Amino acid sequence: MGIVIRPARSALDFEYVRRLRNANRTHLTGDGGRIGVFRQLRFWLRRPAGIDLYLAECDGRRCGYLLLRRADATTYITEVVDVRHRGRGVAREMIRFAAARHPHLSAEIFAANEVSRRLHARAGFAFAGAADGRERHVLDDAAAARAA
Ligand SMILES: CC(C)(COP(=O)(O)OP(=O)(O)OC[C@H]1O[C@@H](n2cnc3c(N)ncnc32)[C@H](O)[C@@H]1OP(=O)(O)O)[C@@H](O)C(=O)NCCC(=O)NCCS
Repeated sequence: MGIVIRPARSALDFEYVRRLRNANRTHLTGDGGRIGVFRQLRFWLRRPAGIDLYLAECDGRRCGYLLLRRADATTYITEVVDVRHRGRGVAREMIRFAAARHPHLSAEIFAANEVSRRLHARAGFAFAGAADGRERHVLDDAAAARAA
């Protein structure tokens, strides 16, 4: 299967991300509410500084998204893959893509999200603390190179 990671560009890309994000929102540690069409449209039009949104394509079709939020000393990473395309290395490819562009990544993961914890551990992330049922895992350049 060919996996390509590319920037989200069009309103349709952002609508795809909205739906996938809403369907998986209980796994994500940020705002747990549903995002409506108009809120997402505003996000597309404004493209807030510090946030980069990418789509994964599997054999030319959208199959997931990668959101990177740049902060002072790190970049927060979120990956979501369509259930129909899971277990084929899409998220691993998204982490590789992000690690090649950012020297330090942080993932905030619900402690109960075994799949995500395993994904990040396999990619070289190290546990960096926990609070309120959430864990922080971090990946620096050296660890990413070792895991590659
Ligand atoms: C977590 C998620 C992004 C993984 O996507 P994916 O494309 O299926 O993951 P990959 O195929 O790249 O798998 C990479 C590694 O993750 C782990 N993994 C993936 N699916 C797994 C499963 N069902 N059970 C256990 N480990 C799993 C494995 O360690 C795997 O590596 P391995 O096969 O070499 O052991 C996907 O399950 C998802 O979108 N979940 C809902 C949203 C979410 O929790 N996102 C993370 C937010 S912190």
